[in-house]
Amino acid sequence: MLNNWTDVANIDEIPDQECKIVEINDMPIAVFNLEGNYYAIEDNCPHQHLPLADGMVEDSTITCPYHGAMFSIITGEVLSPPACDNLRTFITRVHEGKVQVKGK
Ligand code: FES
Repeated sequence: MLNNWTDVANIDEIPDQECKIVEINDMPIAVFNLEGNYYAIEDNCPHQHLPLADGMVEDSTITCPYHGAMFSIITGEVLSPPACDNLRTFITRVHEGKVQVKGK
């Protein structure tokens, strides 16, 4: 799954500190722009499997809008309960003006 690079956005499409939600192979993925670097996480909070991308973003941390679990957008690491598991992350790159995502 996600063995190939997939175009997800034009580089000017995602403002700094915001994200675009895309679906690849039926999986929702949130692609963030943090100061011109792009990061992709599965848009699925591991606590109760609810969407995460509407949560508050501060620096490189996102807070789940449902029960407040916090995660690193860069590494997917869970930083605060009630979630216990890390987020799945994906490799990104910019290629010919497009943000692309690939599994890892
Ligand atoms: S669903 Fe995210 S903290 Fe509960």
